[in-house]
Parts: sequence; structure tokens; C-alpha cells
Amino acid sequence: MTQTPNAAASGTFLIGGDIPVHRLAYGAMRITGPGIWGDPKDRRAALATLRRLPELGVNFIDTADSYGPFVSEDLIREALHPYPGMLVATKGGLLRHGPDKWVPLADPGYLRQCVLLSLRRLGVERIDLWQLHRLDHGDARQAQLQVIADMRQEGLIRHVGLSEVRPADIEEAQRYFPVATVQNQYNLGERKSEAVLDYCTQHGIGFIPWYPLNAGKLAHPGSVLDTIAQAHGVTPSAIALAWLLKRSPVMLPIPGTSSPEHLAQNVAAAQVRLSDHEFETLGKQAV
Ligand SMILES: NC(=O)c1ccc[n+]([C@@H]2O[C@H](COP(=O)([O-])OP(=O)(O)OC[C@H]3O[C@@H](n4cnc5c(N)ncnc54)[C@H](OP(=O)(O)O)[C@@H]3O)[C@@H](O)[C@H]2O)c1
Repeated sequence: MTQTPNAAASGTFLIGGDIPVHRLAYGAMRITGPGIWGDPKDRRAALATLRRLPELGVNFIDTADSYGPFVSEDLIREALHPYPGMLVATKGGLLRHGPDKWVPLADPGYLRQCVLLSLRRLGVERIDLWQLHRLDHGDARQAQLQVIADMRQEGLIRHVGLSEVRPADIEEAQRYFPVATVQNQYNLGERKSEAVLDYCTQHGIGFIPWYPLNAGKLAHPGSVLDTIAQAHGVTPSAIALAWLLKRSPVMLPIPGTSSPEHLAQNVAAAQVRLSDHEFETLGKQAV
């Protein structure tokens, strides 16, 4: 593919019914250090990757206060504030105790602090999409959902998303606030969330698949993706993302990268139109 790719070709989805974003988006977890801890090895490349986003039509970024922690939100602000025409979605609800260590904390006071500090770091007065990183499965759940509803009423948050949930969880949360998006692990090789995806499709809830490239495994040559990638003149990563985009109109993939070159390869997925045969072939293969 020789022309500059543009995420606009992936189509538009309305977050919460009122914020338009291009469906092919970007995950900002990889612009941190190893174990998603500390600064990235190449800070200039991380900033260059972020600055490339608007040039490639990507106007939806997924981050979290726990990425770094704080590093991802800080870099996004440095590169892109005040985010003209973009939606920066963040998350809260996890403590960090070191590289690769993630500890959920449902305490309402902590969740309120997460939101207030994300507002300050991102330099905004309201977070357009704030996602609860992990829903509590014990006694703290009601208080957890209530404080989110309160923060929405107070105008600190515009829309709410959940992560790693089932349809029953979504329905319970809907008693407190409308659920705008769901972020679960999902990609060609990992599809335990099919039923959740179908539920979101049916109800017009945005579905944000994390690990859309299976943490990079679907980006490497040597898989069944290769042949189809060559036929379309794109990389295997673009085929994995094009398959996701075709799977559902509510699908909002957030491939992560710290490289401007990989970013452009991934955005090329927006222009790929897989045939029904290619879509089915890919879906049947264990990749
Ligand atoms: N809700 C949750 O619990 C949760 C959990 C995990 C992640 N997330 C979100 O989901 C996003 C996506 O997940 P992810 O970043 O972990 O995994 P991913 O998007 O499946 O894969 C990212 C990996 O693939 C590599 N990659 C990307 N494009 C490539 C290309 N064109 N060619 C070769 N390698 C490529 C990246 O390395 P390079 O940097 O070298 O390109 C990186 O190591 C995250 O950024 C984060 O926003 C959410």
C-alpha cells in the first residue's frame, strides 16, 4: 500500500451515542518501560508515535493511569494537548506494585482520586470516556459502581466504560450509569469473549478488544495471515486488525506500539476490505 493510510477509512463509531471516533484506534500502554513500568526506552520515538496519530486520522486513544504508572498519560499530554478532535479515554482502579504487577483496588475514595489525578495529568476538565479497569467481584462492587455514577453526575466523567466483564456485569452496572464501552481481551487467536462481543453488538455498546495483535504475535510473519497480507499488500498486523473491524460494527481495535512505522502499518488495516471467504478462513484457523 503506497498512499498514506488513514483511520477514517475504518468508519466512525459514536462513543456514548455522541462522540464520533474513527473505529481504528490506538492503545498507549506500550509507550512505557518494560513490564509497563517507568519511562520508555526511546522517549523520542514514543512522542513521535503519538504525534503521528492525528496525521494518520487516529482520533481515539486508550490509556490508563496505571501505564507507567502515569507515564502514558503524561506523554499523551506532552505530545497532543489539548487534543483537538480527539478522544483520550483513560482507566483507573489498579494499584501498581512494580513491573508487571497489577493490584485491583475498588475503594471509592481511591477511584475518585484516580479520576481527579487523571484529569490533572491529562489537563482536561472532564474525562470523555473513563473506564473501570477491573470490576470488584466481592462486597465492594456496589460502592464502586455508585462512586462512578456520582462522578458522572458531578461532570468529572462524561461516559463510562468497563473492562473484563460479562453481560450480567454490564446489566448490573447499567442500573447505575449507561455503559458506553466494554474493553475485553479479544483477537483472532483468543476469543473467549465472543458472547460479550455479540451482546455489545446487539446493544450498540462499543467493544474495545485489548491485545488485538495478541501482544504482537499476530504481527509477525510466518502465520496464515501472511498469504492474505501479501494479496492485499499490507503487513500481517493489518490483516489481524481488518478481521476485527469486519467482525462487528461496534469493534474499536486499540493496537499498541511505540514505533511510528508499526503505527502506519497498523492503520493500513482501515483500507483493507477482506472478502467473506478471507474473513471465514481466518476465523476458522487457529493463529
Ligand atoms: N483493559 C485491559 O485490561 C488491558 C490489558 C492490556 C492492554 N490493554 C490496552 O490494549 C492495548 C493493546 O494491547 P497491547 O498493546 O498490549 O497488545 P497488542 O496491540 O496486541 O500488541 C502490541 C505489541 O505488538 C507489537 N506491534 C504492534 N504493531 C506491530 C507491527 N506492525 N509489527 C510488529 N510488531 C507490532 C508492539 O511492539 P512495538 O512497540 O515494537 O511496535 C507491541 O509489543 C494496550 O496498548 C492498552 O491500551 C488493556
